[in-house]
Amino acid sequence: MPAMLVAAGSLAAAFWAALHLRTLLLAAVTFLFLADYLKSRRPKNYPPGPPRLPFVGNLFQMDFRQSHLAVQQFVKKYGNVIRLDFGIMSSVIISSLPLIKEAFSHLDENFINRPIFPLQSHIFNENGLIFSSGQTWKEQRRFALMTLRNFGLGKKSLEQRIQEEAHYLVEAIGEEKGQPFDPHFKINNAVSNIICSITFGERFEYHDGQFQELLKLLDKAMYLGTSIMIHLYNIFPWIIKHLPGQHQTLLATWRKLKSYIADIVDNHRKDWNPDEPRDFIDAFLTEMAKYPDKTTTSFNEENLICSTLDLFLAGTETTSTTLRWALLYMALYPEVQAKVQAEIDRVIGQEKHPSLADRDSMPYTNAVIHEIQRMGNIVPLNVPREVAVDTTLAGFHLPKGTTVITNLTALHMDPKEWATPDTFNPEHFLENGQFKKRESFLPFSMGWRPLRAEIVEGKLSSLCCVRGQHLLRGQNDQSRH
Ligand code: HEM
Ligand SMILES: *[C@@H]1O[C@H](CO)[C@@H](O)[C@H](O)[C@H]1NC(C)=O
Repeated sequence: MPAMLVAAGSLAAAFWAALHLRTLLLAAVTFLFLADYLKSRRPKNYPPGPPRLPFVGNLFQMDFRQSHLAVQQFVKKYGNVIRLDFGIMSSVIISSLPLIKEAFSHLDENFINRPIFPLQSHIFNENGLIFSSGQTWKEQRRFALMTLRNFGLGKKSLEQRIQEEAHYLVEAIGEEKGQPFDPHFKINNAVSNIICSITFGERFEYHDGQFQELLKLLDKAMYLGTSIMIHLYNIFPWIIKHLPGQHQTLLATWRKLKSYIADIVDNHRKDWNPDEPRDFIDAFLTEMAKYPDKTTTSFNEENLICSTLDLFLAGTETTSTTLRWALLYMALYPEVQAKVQAEIDRVIGQEKHPSLADRDSMPYTNAVIHEIQRMGNIVPLNVPREVAVDTTLAGFHLPKGTTVITNLTALHMDPKEWATPDTFNPEHFLENGQFKKRESFLPFSMGWRPLRAEIVEGKLSSLCCVRGQHLLRGQNDQSRH
Protein backbone atom coordinates (compact mmCIF):
# COMPACT_ATOMS: atom_id res chain seq x y z
CA MET A 1 0.00 0.00 0.00
CA PRO A 2 2.57 2.55 1.01
CA ALA A 3 4.46 1.57 -2.07
CA MET A 4 1.41 2.43 -4.18
CA LEU A 5 1.02 5.69 -2.40
CA VAL A 6 4.57 6.47 -3.08
CA ALA A 7 4.07 5.50 -6.70
CA ALA A 8 0.91 7.62 -6.92
CA GLY A 9 2.73 10.41 -5.20
CA SER A 10 5.59 10.33 -7.61
CA LEU A 11 3.11 10.03 -10.47
CA ALA A 12 1.41 13.15 -9.22
CA ALA A 13 4.75 14.79 -8.79
CA ALA A 14 5.71 13.78 -12.28
CA PHE A 15 2.35 15.06 -13.54
CA TRP A 16 2.83 18.36 -11.82
CA ALA A 17 6.38 18.56 -12.98
CA ALA A 18 5.28 17.91 -16.54
CA LEU A 19 2.50 20.46 -16.28
CA HIS A 20 4.94 22.87 -14.77
CA LEU A 21 7.41 22.26 -17.53
CA ARG A 22 4.69 22.75 -20.11
CA THR A 23 3.52 25.98 -18.52
CA LEU A 24 7.07 27.14 -18.35
CA LEU A 25 7.71 26.24 -21.94
CA LEU A 26 4.48 27.87 -23.02
CA ALA A 27 5.36 30.99 -21.07
CA ALA A 28 8.83 30.99 -22.58
CA VAL A 29 7.56 30.58 -26.12
CA THR A 30 4.92 33.28 -25.60
CA PHE A 31 7.59 35.54 -24.22
CA LEU A 32 9.90 34.89 -27.18
CA PHE A 33 7.14 35.58 -29.70
CA LEU A 34 6.17 38.72 -27.84
CA ALA A 35 9.78 39.87 -27.67
CA ASP A 36 10.20 39.11 -31.36
CA TYR A 37 6.97 40.97 -32.14
CA LEU A 38 7.99 44.00 -30.09
CA LYS A 39 11.45 43.99 -31.64
CA SER A 40 10.05 43.79 -35.15
CA ARG A 41 7.52 46.58 -34.64
CA ARG A 42 8.46 49.43 -36.90
CA PRO A 43 8.00 53.13 -36.52
CA LYS A 44 5.58 54.90 -38.83
CA ASN A 45 6.89 55.40 -42.36
CA TYR A 46 9.51 52.70 -42.05
CA PRO A 47 10.61 51.37 -45.48
CA PRO A 48 8.47 48.53 -46.85
CA GLY A 49 9.65 44.97 -47.39
CA PRO A 50 8.45 41.40 -47.73
CA PRO A 51 6.51 40.03 -44.75
CA ARG A 52 8.78 38.53 -42.14
CA LEU A 53 8.55 35.24 -40.24
CA PRO A 54 9.00 35.21 -36.48
CA PHE A 55 12.66 34.89 -35.36
CA VAL A 56 14.18 34.22 -38.77
CA GLY A 57 12.82 37.30 -40.52
CA ASN A 58 13.27 37.02 -44.29
CA LEU A 59 16.09 34.53 -44.00
CA PHE A 60 14.34 31.61 -45.67
CA GLN A 61 12.64 33.69 -48.34
CA MET A 62 16.03 33.77 -50.00
CA ASP A 63 17.59 30.97 -51.93
CA PHE A 64 21.15 31.43 -50.72
CA ARG A 65 22.79 30.52 -53.97
CA GLN A 66 20.56 32.94 -55.87
CA SER A 67 19.75 35.46 -53.18
CA HIS A 68 20.45 38.27 -55.64
CA LEU A 69 17.47 37.21 -57.75
CA ALA A 70 15.15 37.18 -54.73
CA VAL A 71 16.26 40.66 -53.70
CA GLN A 72 15.77 41.90 -57.26
CA GLN A 73 12.13 40.80 -57.03
CA PHE A 74 11.70 42.65 -53.73
CA VAL A 75 13.21 45.83 -55.18
CA LYS A 76 10.84 45.57 -58.16
CA LYS A 77 7.89 45.18 -55.83
CA TYR A 78 8.76 47.54 -52.94
CA GLY A 79 11.09 50.13 -54.48
CA ASN A 80 14.60 51.47 -53.95
CA VAL A 81 14.48 51.61 -50.17
CA ILE A 82 13.48 48.29 -48.65
CA ARG A 83 13.66 46.54 -45.32
CA LEU A 84 15.05 43.02 -44.94
CA ASP A 85 15.44 41.08 -41.70
CA PHE A 86 17.84 38.24 -41.03
CA GLY A 87 17.35 36.88 -37.54
CA ILE A 88 18.40 39.65 -35.19
CA MET A 89 19.97 41.56 -38.05
CA SER A 90 17.64 43.98 -39.69
CA SER A 91 18.70 46.31 -42.45
CA VAL A 92 17.53 48.81 -44.98
CA ILE A 93 18.86 48.43 -48.52
CA ILE A 94 19.22 51.47 -50.75
CA SER A 95 19.62 50.73 -54.44
CA SER A 96 19.38 53.86 -56.53
CA LEU A 97 21.95 56.51 -57.37
CA PRO A 98 19.90 59.58 -56.34
CA LEU A 99 19.14 58.06 -52.94
CA ILE A 100 22.70 56.85 -52.32
CA LYS A 101 23.92 60.34 -53.20
CA GLU A 102 21.32 61.92 -50.96
CA ALA A 103 22.35 59.68 -48.05
CA PHE A 104 26.12 59.94 -48.50
CA SER A 105 26.51 63.55 -49.55
CA HIS A 106 23.71 65.78 -48.26
CA LEU A 107 22.91 63.67 -45.22
CA ASP A 108 26.35 62.14 -44.77
CA GLU A 109 26.68 63.04 -41.09
CA ASN A 110 23.49 61.09 -40.43
CA PHE A 111 24.85 57.96 -42.13
CA ILE A 112 28.39 58.14 -40.83
CA ASN A 113 28.47 55.28 -38.30
CA ARG A 114 29.22 51.60 -38.78
CA PRO A 115 26.92 48.92 -37.44
CA ILE A 116 28.74 46.36 -35.43
CA PHE A 117 28.00 42.71 -36.09
CA PRO A 118 28.86 39.95 -33.62
CA LEU A 119 31.85 38.71 -35.61
CA GLN A 120 33.49 42.12 -36.02
CA SER A 121 32.65 42.92 -32.45
CA HIS A 122 34.50 39.80 -31.43
CA ILE A 123 37.59 40.73 -33.45
CA PHE A 124 37.74 44.53 -33.45
CA ASN A 125 35.46 45.45 -30.56
CA GLU A 126 34.65 48.79 -32.30
CA ASN A 127 38.32 49.76 -32.38
CA GLY A 128 40.38 50.94 -35.32
CA LEU A 129 39.36 52.72 -38.51
CA ILE A 130 36.97 50.60 -40.50
CA PHE A 131 34.56 49.30 -37.85
CA SER A 132 34.63 52.22 -35.42
CA SER A 133 32.20 55.10 -34.94
CA GLY A 134 31.96 58.28 -32.90
CA GLN A 135 35.01 59.69 -31.13
CA THR A 136 37.24 56.68 -31.84
CA TRP A 137 36.54 56.92 -35.56
CA LYS A 138 37.07 60.71 -35.70
CA GLU A 139 40.40 60.48 -33.86
CA GLN A 140 41.68 57.42 -35.69
CA ARG A 141 40.68 58.74 -39.08
CA ARG A 142 42.18 62.18 -38.57
CA PHE A 143 45.38 60.62 -37.30
CA ALA A 144 45.57 58.10 -40.17
CA LEU A 145 45.06 60.79 -42.82
CA MET A 146 47.65 63.03 -41.22
CA THR A 147 50.22 60.25 -40.90
CA LEU A 148 49.64 58.96 -44.41
CA ARG A 149 50.18 62.46 -45.68
CA ASN A 150 53.32 63.06 -43.62
CA PHE A 151 54.96 59.77 -44.52
CA GLY A 152 53.79 60.11 -48.08
CA LEU A 153 55.34 63.54 -48.37
CA GLY A 154 58.45 62.72 -46.35
CA LYS A 155 61.47 61.23 -48.02
CA LYS A 156 59.66 59.62 -50.89
CA SER A 157 56.27 60.41 -52.30
CA LEU A 158 53.73 57.64 -52.47
CA GLU A 159 53.89 57.88 -56.23
CA GLN A 160 57.63 57.19 -56.20
CA ARG A 161 57.09 54.19 -53.94
CA ILE A 162 54.45 52.84 -56.31
CA GLN A 163 56.76 53.34 -59.30
CA GLU A 164 59.60 51.49 -57.59
CA GLU A 165 57.36 48.66 -56.50
CA ALA A 166 55.88 48.33 -59.99
CA HIS A 167 59.42 47.97 -61.26
CA TYR A 168 60.15 45.13 -58.81
CA LEU A 169 56.90 43.40 -59.76
CA VAL A 170 57.67 43.57 -63.46
CA GLU A 171 61.11 42.16 -62.71
CA ALA A 172 59.62 39.27 -60.67
CA ILE A 173 57.18 38.47 -63.46
CA GLY A 174 60.09 38.53 -65.92
CA GLU A 175 61.89 35.91 -63.84
CA GLU A 176 59.12 33.46 -64.75
CA LYS A 177 60.51 33.58 -68.32
CA GLY A 178 57.09 33.50 -69.96
CA GLN A 179 56.07 30.22 -68.35
CA PRO A 180 52.60 29.93 -66.78
CA PHE A 181 52.55 30.87 -63.05
CA ASP A 182 50.07 32.02 -60.44
CA PRO A 183 50.55 35.76 -60.00
CA HIS A 184 48.26 35.99 -56.97
CA PHE A 185 50.73 36.47 -54.13
CA LYS A 186 53.34 38.38 -56.13
CA ILE A 187 50.64 40.95 -56.88
CA ASN A 188 49.39 40.99 -53.27
CA ASN A 189 52.94 41.39 -52.05
CA ALA A 190 53.70 44.29 -54.39
CA VAL A 191 50.46 46.10 -53.58
CA SER A 192 50.80 45.51 -49.85
CA ASN A 193 54.34 46.87 -49.84
CA ILE A 194 53.00 50.36 -50.50
CA ILE A 195 50.88 50.49 -47.37
CA CYS A 196 53.48 48.47 -45.43
CA SER A 197 56.15 51.05 -46.19
CA ILE A 198 53.95 53.56 -44.36
CA THR A 199 52.55 51.44 -41.53
CA PHE A 200 55.57 49.20 -40.80
CA GLY A 201 58.30 51.37 -42.30
CA GLU A 202 59.48 48.70 -44.75
CA ARG A 203 58.67 46.75 -47.87
CA PHE A 204 59.04 42.98 -48.03
CA GLU A 205 60.80 40.86 -50.64
CA TYR A 206 58.49 38.60 -52.65
CA HIS A 207 60.28 35.51 -51.34
CA ASP A 208 60.09 36.58 -47.68
CA GLY A 209 58.42 33.50 -46.21
CA GLN A 210 57.10 35.20 -43.09
CA PHE A 211 55.47 38.02 -45.01
CA GLN A 212 53.97 35.58 -47.52
CA GLU A 213 52.45 33.80 -44.55
CA LEU A 214 50.90 37.06 -43.35
CA LEU A 215 49.46 37.70 -46.83
CA LYS A 216 48.04 34.19 -46.93
CA LEU A 217 46.40 34.66 -43.53
CA LEU A 218 44.76 37.84 -44.79
CA ASP A 219 43.59 36.11 -47.94
CA LYS A 220 42.16 33.28 -45.87
CA ALA A 221 40.34 35.74 -43.61
CA MET A 222 38.78 37.40 -46.65
CA TYR A 223 37.82 34.10 -48.22
CA LEU A 224 36.35 32.58 -45.05
CA GLY A 225 34.48 35.80 -44.34
CA THR A 226 31.98 34.93 -47.07
CA SER A 227 31.09 31.47 -45.78
CA ILE A 228 27.56 30.63 -44.69
CA MET A 229 28.68 29.87 -41.13
CA ILE A 230 29.80 33.48 -40.79
CA HIS A 231 26.34 34.73 -41.78
CA LEU A 232 24.82 32.34 -39.28
CA TYR A 233 27.27 33.43 -36.58
CA ASN A 234 26.25 37.04 -37.11
CA ILE A 235 22.56 36.14 -36.96
CA PHE A 236 22.53 33.62 -34.10
CA PRO A 237 25.85 34.20 -32.30
CA TRP A 238 24.81 32.58 -28.99
CA ILE A 239 24.12 29.24 -30.67
CA ILE A 240 26.73 29.19 -33.40
CA LYS A 241 29.63 30.19 -31.19
CA HIS A 242 29.40 26.80 -29.48
CA LEU A 243 29.55 24.86 -32.74
CA PRO A 244 32.61 23.87 -34.73
CA GLY A 245 32.93 25.22 -38.26
CA GLN A 246 34.56 27.75 -40.51
CA HIS A 247 33.66 30.63 -38.21
CA GLN A 248 36.04 29.13 -35.63
CA THR A 249 38.80 28.94 -38.26
CA LEU A 250 38.08 32.54 -39.20
CA LEU A 251 38.25 33.74 -35.61
CA ALA A 252 41.54 31.90 -35.17
CA THR A 253 42.86 33.49 -38.38
CA TRP A 254 42.02 36.99 -37.14
CA ARG A 255 43.64 36.25 -33.80
CA LYS A 256 46.81 35.24 -35.66
CA LEU A 257 46.71 38.40 -37.78
CA LYS A 258 46.34 40.56 -34.68
CA SER A 259 49.17 38.82 -32.88
CA TYR A 260 51.35 39.28 -35.98
CA ILE A 261 50.72 43.02 -35.83
CA ALA A 262 51.26 43.01 -32.05
CA ASP A 263 54.70 41.44 -32.61
CA ILE A 264 55.62 44.11 -35.17
CA VAL A 265 54.50 46.77 -32.67
CA ASP A 266 56.68 45.20 -29.95
CA ASN A 267 59.67 45.27 -32.27
CA HIS A 268 59.03 48.94 -32.94
CA ARG A 269 58.95 49.68 -29.20
CA LYS A 270 62.46 48.25 -28.82
CA ASP A 271 64.13 50.90 -30.97
CA TRP A 272 61.48 53.62 -30.91
CA ASN A 273 62.78 57.18 -30.93
CA PRO A 274 59.99 59.72 -30.40
CA ASP A 275 62.02 62.38 -32.20
CA GLU A 276 62.35 60.36 -35.36
CA PRO A 277 59.15 58.53 -36.16
CA ARG A 278 59.82 56.04 -38.96
CA ASP A 279 56.25 55.09 -39.75
CA PHE A 280 52.60 54.94 -38.71
CA ILE A 281 53.32 52.69 -35.70
CA ASP A 282 56.07 55.00 -34.36
CA ALA A 283 53.84 58.04 -34.78
CA PHE A 284 51.05 56.22 -32.96
CA LEU A 285 53.36 55.35 -30.06
CA THR A 286 54.23 59.05 -29.79
CA GLU A 287 50.54 59.93 -29.76
CA MET A 288 49.88 57.33 -27.06
CA ALA A 289 52.61 58.79 -24.87
CA LYS A 290 50.81 62.16 -24.93
CA TYR A 291 47.85 60.72 -23.05
CA PRO A 292 48.77 59.19 -19.71
CA ASP A 293 45.05 58.99 -18.91
CA LYS A 294 43.91 56.34 -21.34
CA THR A 295 40.22 56.73 -20.60
CA THR A 296 39.74 59.98 -22.52
CA THR A 297 41.45 58.96 -25.75
CA SER A 298 41.34 56.26 -28.37
CA PHE A 299 45.15 56.29 -28.64
CA ASN A 300 45.70 53.02 -26.84
CA GLU A 301 47.20 49.62 -27.57
CA GLU A 302 43.98 48.09 -28.96
CA ASN A 303 43.44 50.93 -31.44
CA LEU A 304 47.09 50.86 -32.44
CA ILE A 305 46.76 47.22 -33.41
CA CYS A 306 43.30 47.53 -34.99
CA SER A 307 44.05 50.69 -37.01
CA THR A 308 47.32 49.22 -38.27
CA LEU A 309 45.56 45.99 -39.22
CA ASP A 310 42.75 47.98 -40.90
CA LEU A 311 45.20 49.94 -43.05
CA PHE A 312 47.07 46.76 -43.89
CA LEU A 313 43.96 44.87 -44.97
CA ALA A 314 42.17 47.75 -46.70
CA GLY A 315 45.38 48.71 -48.50
CA THR A 316 46.19 45.16 -49.60
CA GLU A 317 43.08 43.19 -50.55
CA THR A 318 41.20 45.82 -52.56
CA THR A 319 43.89 46.89 -54.99
CA SER A 320 45.30 43.35 -55.37
CA THR A 321 41.91 41.90 -56.21
CA THR A 322 41.31 44.69 -58.71
CA LEU A 323 44.66 43.99 -60.39
CA ARG A 324 43.86 40.28 -60.65
CA TRP A 325 40.57 41.17 -62.36
CA ALA A 326 42.61 43.41 -64.66
CA LEU A 327 44.88 40.51 -65.68
CA LEU A 328 41.86 38.31 -66.29
CA TYR A 329 40.07 40.86 -68.49
CA MET A 330 43.25 41.57 -70.44
CA ALA A 331 43.60 37.84 -71.09
CA LEU A 332 39.93 37.49 -72.07
CA TYR A 333 39.93 40.55 -74.36
CA PRO A 334 43.23 40.51 -76.27
CA GLU A 335 42.02 43.26 -78.64
CA VAL A 336 41.52 45.58 -75.65
CA GLN A 337 44.90 44.55 -74.30
CA ALA A 338 46.51 45.45 -77.63
CA LYS A 339 44.98 48.93 -77.60
CA VAL A 340 46.11 49.53 -74.01
CA GLN A 341 49.61 48.37 -74.94
CA ALA A 342 49.67 50.70 -77.94
CA GLU A 343 48.66 53.66 -75.76
CA ILE A 344 51.30 52.79 -73.15
CA ASP A 345 53.97 52.49 -75.85
CA ARG A 346 52.94 55.81 -77.38
CA VAL A 347 52.57 57.90 -74.20
CA ILE A 348 55.04 56.30 -71.78
CA GLY A 349 57.41 54.26 -73.93
CA GLN A 350 60.22 52.11 -72.58
CA GLU A 351 62.31 54.68 -70.72
CA LYS A 352 60.02 56.49 -68.35
CA HIS A 353 58.05 55.32 -65.25
CA PRO A 354 54.30 55.61 -65.65
CA SER A 355 52.98 58.43 -63.46
CA LEU A 356 49.69 60.01 -62.45
CA ALA A 357 50.50 62.93 -64.72
CA ASP A 358 50.20 60.61 -67.74
CA ARG A 359 46.62 59.72 -66.93
CA ASP A 360 45.04 62.57 -68.85
CA SER A 361 46.95 61.61 -71.99
CA MET A 362 45.75 58.00 -71.74
CA PRO A 363 41.96 58.06 -72.10
CA TYR A 364 41.71 54.49 -73.38
CA THR A 365 43.75 52.93 -70.55
CA ASN A 366 41.86 55.08 -68.06
CA ALA A 367 38.54 53.83 -69.45
CA VAL A 368 39.78 50.23 -69.30
CA ILE A 369 40.76 50.61 -65.63
CA HIS A 370 37.33 52.06 -64.83
CA GLU A 371 35.61 49.26 -66.69
CA ILE A 372 37.70 46.67 -64.80
CA GLN A 373 36.51 48.24 -61.55
CA ARG A 374 32.89 48.35 -62.71
CA MET A 375 32.86 44.70 -63.74
CA GLY A 376 35.15 43.55 -60.88
CA ASN A 377 32.68 45.24 -58.51
CA ILE A 378 34.80 44.10 -55.58
CA VAL A 379 32.79 45.71 -52.76
CA PRO A 380 29.34 44.86 -54.16
CA LEU A 381 27.21 45.98 -51.20
CA ASN A 382 29.64 48.64 -49.92
CA VAL A 383 30.68 48.53 -46.28
CA PRO A 384 27.49 48.85 -44.20
CA ARG A 385 26.69 52.12 -42.46
CA GLU A 386 24.53 52.85 -39.46
CA VAL A 387 22.14 55.75 -39.03
CA ALA A 388 23.62 58.09 -36.39
CA VAL A 389 20.53 60.26 -35.70
CA ASP A 390 16.85 59.83 -36.65
CA THR A 391 16.68 60.62 -40.35
CA THR A 392 14.18 60.89 -43.18
CA LEU A 393 15.19 59.55 -46.57
CA ALA A 394 12.82 59.59 -49.54
CA GLY A 395 9.96 60.12 -47.09
CA PHE A 396 10.90 57.06 -45.04
CA HIS A 397 11.73 57.31 -41.40
CA LEU A 398 15.06 55.71 -40.46
CA PRO A 399 15.59 55.68 -36.71
CA LYS A 400 19.05 56.00 -35.18
CA GLY A 401 20.76 52.61 -35.19
CA THR A 402 19.27 51.38 -38.48
CA THR A 403 21.77 49.35 -40.53
CA VAL A 404 22.01 50.72 -44.06
CA ILE A 405 23.32 48.74 -46.99
CA THR A 406 23.93 50.56 -50.25
CA ASN A 407 23.81 48.32 -53.27
CA LEU A 408 26.72 49.43 -55.48
CA THR A 409 26.06 46.48 -57.78
CA ALA A 410 22.69 48.00 -58.65
CA LEU A 411 24.57 51.08 -59.94
CA HIS A 412 27.37 49.18 -61.67
CA MET A 413 24.99 46.81 -63.46
CA ASP A 414 22.04 49.18 -64.05
CA PRO A 415 20.68 48.36 -67.54
CA LYS A 416 19.44 51.95 -67.88
CA GLU A 417 22.93 53.36 -67.37
CA TRP A 418 25.22 51.00 -69.27
CA ALA A 419 25.03 49.95 -72.90
CA THR A 420 26.16 46.39 -72.10
CA PRO A 421 25.83 46.09 -68.31
CA ASP A 422 26.93 42.43 -68.16
CA THR A 423 29.75 42.62 -70.70
CA PHE A 424 33.22 44.10 -70.35
CA ASN A 425 33.20 47.15 -72.58
CA PRO A 426 35.60 50.11 -72.12
CA GLU A 427 33.37 52.20 -74.41
CA HIS A 428 31.21 52.75 -71.32
CA PHE A 429 33.78 55.32 -70.24
CA LEU A 430 34.59 56.85 -73.61
CA GLU A 431 33.04 59.52 -75.79
CA ASN A 432 34.66 60.56 -79.07
CA GLY A 433 37.92 58.97 -77.93
CA GLN A 434 37.93 61.03 -74.72
CA PHE A 435 37.52 59.68 -71.21
CA LYS A 436 33.97 60.13 -69.94
CA LYS A 437 33.14 60.15 -66.21
CA ARG A 438 30.07 58.19 -65.20
CA GLU A 439 27.92 58.99 -62.21
CA SER A 440 26.78 55.42 -61.69
CA PHE A 441 30.36 54.35 -60.98
CA LEU A 442 31.04 54.31 -57.24
CA PRO A 443 33.47 51.46 -56.46
CA PHE A 444 34.97 53.51 -53.60
CA SER A 445 31.57 54.59 -52.32
CA MET A 446 31.33 58.31 -51.54
CA GLY A 447 31.17 60.86 -48.75
CA TRP A 448 33.34 60.99 -45.64
CA ARG A 449 33.82 57.33 -44.91
CA PRO A 450 36.15 56.23 -47.76
CA LEU A 451 39.71 57.04 -46.78
CA ARG A 452 41.31 59.83 -48.76
CA ALA A 453 44.65 61.46 -48.28
CA GLU A 454 46.38 64.50 -49.57
CA ILE A 455 49.61 63.34 -51.13
CA VAL A 456 51.58 65.50 -53.48
CA GLU A 457 52.43 69.19 -53.35
CA GLY A 458 49.11 70.58 -52.24
CA LYS A 459 47.53 68.72 -55.11
CA LEU A 460 44.92 66.44 -53.69
CA SER A 461 45.27 62.85 -54.54
CA SER A 462 44.26 59.84 -52.59
CA LEU A 463 44.89 56.27 -51.64
CA CYS A 464 41.48 54.81 -51.67
CA CYS A 465 39.80 57.09 -54.11
CA VAL A 466 41.43 58.57 -57.12
CA ARG A 467 38.47 60.04 -58.89
CA GLY A 468 37.91 63.71 -59.56
CA GLN A 469 34.85 63.87 -57.39
CA HIS A 470 36.72 62.76 -54.31
CA LEU A 471 39.70 64.97 -55.05
CA LEU A 472 37.51 68.03 -55.09
CA ARG A 473 35.96 67.19 -51.76
CA GLY A 474 39.24 66.43 -50.04
CA GLN A 475 39.94 70.09 -49.33
CA ASN A 476 37.12 70.80 -46.90
CA ASP A 477 37.64 67.34 -45.54
CA GLN A 478 40.56 68.70 -43.54
CA SER A 479 38.51 71.46 -42.02
CA ARG A 480 35.69 69.17 -41.05
CA HIS A 481 37.55 66.79 -38.81
C1 HEM B 1 40.61 49.43 -55.63
C2 HEM B 1 40.90 49.88 -54.46
C3 HEM B 1 39.91 50.22 -53.36
C4 HEM B 1 38.55 50.12 -53.32
C5 HEM B 1 37.60 49.62 -54.41
C6 HEM B 1 38.14 50.60 -52.01
C7 HEM B 1 36.82 50.68 -51.59
C8 HEM B 1 36.41 51.13 -50.34
C9 HEM B 1 35.03 51.22 -49.91
C10 HEM B 1 33.80 50.87 -50.75
C11 HEM B 1 35.03 51.66 -48.63
C12 HEM B 1 33.80 51.91 -47.74
C13 HEM B 1 33.43 53.37 -47.77
C14 HEM B 1 32.11 53.69 -47.13
O1 HEM B 1 31.77 53.21 -46.05
O2 HEM B 1 31.36 54.45 -47.75
C15 HEM B 1 36.43 51.85 -48.24
C16 HEM B 1 36.86 52.27 -47.00
C17 HEM B 1 38.19 52.31 -46.63
N1 HEM B 1 39.30 52.20 -47.44
FE1 HEM B 1 39.27 51.73 -49.40
N2 HEM B 1 39.25 50.97 -51.29
C18 HEM B 1 40.35 50.74 -52.07
C19 HEM B 1 41.68 50.97 -51.74
C20 HEM B 1 42.11 51.34 -50.49
C21 HEM B 1 43.50 51.54 -50.14
C22 HEM B 1 44.70 51.36 -51.08
C23 HEM B 1 43.53 51.90 -48.84
C24 HEM B 1 44.81 52.18 -48.09
C25 HEM B 1 44.98 52.74 -47.01
C26 HEM B 1 42.14 51.92 -48.36
C27 HEM B 1 41.74 52.23 -47.07
C28 HEM B 1 40.43 52.27 -46.65
C29 HEM B 1 40.04 52.46 -45.25
C30 HEM B 1 40.97 52.57 -44.05
C31 HEM B 1 38.62 52.48 -45.24
C32 HEM B 1 37.71 52.64 -44.02
C33 HEM B 1 37.49 54.09 -43.75
C34 HEM B 1 36.43 54.30 -42.67
O3 HEM B 1 35.63 53.40 -42.40
O4 HEM B 1 36.40 55.40 -42.12
N3 HEM B 1 41.32 51.62 -49.40
N4 HEM B 1 37.24 51.53 -49.32
C1 LIG C 1 21.91 44.49 -55.61
O1 LIG C 1 21.61 44.77 -56.96
C2 LIG C 1 21.79 43.69 -57.85
C3 LIG C 1 21.56 44.21 -59.27
O2 LIG C 1 20.32 44.80 -59.38
C4 LIG C 1 20.83 42.57 -57.47
O3 LIG C 1 21.01 41.46 -58.32
C5 LIG C 1 21.07 42.18 -56.01
O4 LIG C 1 20.11 41.25 -55.60
C6 LIG C 1 21.01 43.37 -55.09
N1 LIG C 1 21.40 42.93 -53.76
C7 LIG C 1 20.89 43.42 -52.63
C8 LIG C 1 21.32 42.81 -51.35
O5 LIG C 1 20.06 44.32 -52.64
